[in-house]
Amino acid sequence: MADCAVPIQTDQDILAARRQGRALAAQQGFSISEQALIATAISEVARNIVQYADGGEIIVETLHRGTRRGLRMIARDRGPGIADIQKAMQDGFSTGGGLGLGLPGAKRLMDEFVVASTVGKGTEVTMIKWVDWPGD
Ligand SMILES: Nc1ncnc2c1ncn2[C@@H]1O[C@H](COP(=O)(O)OP(=O)(O)OP(=O)(O)O)[C@@H](O)[C@H]1O
Ligand SMILES: [Mg+2]
Repeated sequence: MADCAVPIQTDQDILAARRQGRALAAQQGFSISEQALIATAISEVARNIVQYADGGEIIVETLHRGTRRGLRMIARDRGPGIADIQKAMQDGFSTGGGLGLGLPGAKRLMDEFVVASTVGKGTEVTMIKWVDWPGD
């Protein structure tokens, strides 16, 4: 179930995706600080779409698995793709003169993080975070 899909083309769209992600995170029961982490991860993958792919979308879906609640965020574009995903996931690797911390940083904030990419076709980053329960 797609709870929301935000087209990503401009910096304004990055803010819209952040807001939508934060709202759904709140609805799922994430703490305020986790909502902020989720918004940060969304910003990073959205910023990469604007910077490297020149357009795409971010889909945010609520997850319900038994009593567990979570959020799945899919960032997809039809940009140039990533030739070496392992390299792109390393701290400090950037082809755009950045800090190279976007993808590895976002991964650290998530429970699951998968990058799928084909050169010439595009990139899809899937991120999942579950609401923590006391005693987990
Ligand atoms: N959607 C994308 N399409 C094509 N290449 C991408 C995409 N996202 C990331 N990359 C590639 O992966 C590299 C690492 O991305 P990452 O977000 O970690 O760092 P950065 O964007 O270079 O710098 P920072 O995010 O710290 O400002 C990028 O420099 C770029 O080469
Ligand atoms: Mg980046």
